Amino acid sequence: MKISIIGGTGYVGLITGLGLAVHGHDVICMDGDLKKLNKLEESLPGLLKEATDRDKVVFTNNIKTAVRESDLIMIAVGTPESQNGDTDLSQLILALELVACYMNNYKTIVIKSTVPVGTCAMARMIIKDNLNHPMIPFDVVSNPEFLREGNAVRDFLKPDRIVVGVDTPKSEVVMKELYRSFDAPMIITDTKSSEMVKYACNAYLATRISFINEIAEISEKVNADIHAILQGMKLDKRIGSHYLNPGPGFGGPCLAKDLKSLICFAGKANASLPLLKAVLERNGLQVKSITDYVMNELKDESNKKIAVLGLSFKAGTSDTRNSPAVHLLEKLADTKITIHVYDPVVKSLKEPLKSRVVFSESIEDTIRDSDCLIIMTEWPEFKNLDLKTIYNMMKTHLIVDTRNIFAPDKAHNLGFQYKGIGIADSIDKNISVPLKNII
Ligand SMILES: NC(=O)c1ccc[n+]([C@@H]2O[C@H](COP(=O)([O-])OP(=O)(O)OC[C@H]3O[C@@H](n4cnc5c(N)ncnc54)[C@H](O)[C@@H]3O)[C@@H](O)[C@H]2O)c1
Repeated sequence: MKISIIGGTGYVGLITGLGLAVHGHDVICMDGDLKKLNKLEESLPGLLKEATDRDKVVFTNNIKTAVRESDLIMIAVGTPESQNGDTDLSQLILALELVACYMNNYKTIVIKSTVPVGTCAMARMIIKDNLNHPMIPFDVVSNPEFLREGNAVRDFLKPDRIVVGVDTPKSEVVMKELYRSFDAPMIITDTKSSEMVKYACNAYLATRISFINEIAEISEKVNADIHAILQGMKLDKRIGSHYLNPGPGFGGPCLAKDLKSLICFAGKANASLPLLKAVLERNGLQVKSITDYVMNELKDESNKKIAVLGLSFKAGTSDTRNSPAVHLLEKLADTKITIHVYDPVVKSLKEPLKSRVVFSESIEDTIRDSDCLIIMTEWPEFKNLDLKTIYNMMKTHLIVDTRNIFAPDKAHNLGFQYKGIGIADSIDKNISVPLKNII
């Protein structure tokens, strides 16, 4: 099938384009910004090589060619958060107007971007209003994307399921053909339900994270052991283990944005969603309570150095959008504290943070002579750090481990003041039963 991806060098658009090319389709990745292509060799070498070796993908910034030369047009442009938490659909609207104006015969237009319920219906109107030839037939289809950053290629090529929202039998046939060689169940529904699946999934995942952060808070206050609690919960098959680690809260480009968008369009439909509003509120408390703790323990701001390890919103990606680490730095930036940062892949931040923090060359340089070490991202190299070496390098021995990567007992025994998430300063050993004896 001949396919164009509008937004084809974006995070989702590129992986979608290359993934479909590897599955044998002829793909045009169209994007207004082709500069990102220079970095492609580094970020997706395997997938890119396979797609280009088989001559199955081309890149262009010419939307007219992309539209005219394809049967199916997939739109994967950004749908960022607007000032009031609503979804800014301006990139999508512009893309739809341009696609409509260059359409010369029947096209299936697939919306891959995450969009509020009802957007496919709106897209139909936009296309109709902008067609150069009013009689050209078309269908609009919803096909949300569920890939996770850090695992995106695998998630796209081997998805748990493919969700498709169609309103005509013809577009259903086209979508079945598009994904014919994928080994995954396909859920075919109407466009509104399909749009809603994406929001329901992200709202649920965010809820799990806020839920466990709340359990962590109470565990800490009553001296219960969060590690034991997690194992006790995760082995329950009804609960499972994903998205159930206490930490600095959810970040990244999607969870908070999609939750806010859901709350906004639910409000317009007279649904107040008190639970999901609380999930968002709880998330905001995480970085605030970490910052308050650090400031309280350091007491005096002058001549203090903080070492922050990890800037990306999670391990496995260089994405700092809505990263808890960035939110922490924004709060610390207003103090007199010297802040040294290190991340294995993030080597710069946007202003004003860029000139407020010191980017260290190594983990050691970051930690040396610091008064407080804060772990913000769970990169494997941080997990393997030797606590004794860290102890010898620091001036004052305070560790704030927001990812619970170190063993609290080991840190305490070495003389650290150790603060994890959901871990009390001292757990009552008389009542704690070693977990290996339980399982
Ligand atoms: N990033 C993720 O992990 C993820 C996962 C699932 C779903 N999503 C959703 O997918 C969508 C895209 O997200 P992303 O992270 O890939 O965004 P992105 O910003 O990385 O990519 C969007 C791309 O669209 C291009 N673009 C914008 N307007 C255009 C136009 N008129 N013509 C051509 N190109 C245009 C931009 O240049 C950019 O390259 C969003 O709706 C997002 O919520 C993202």
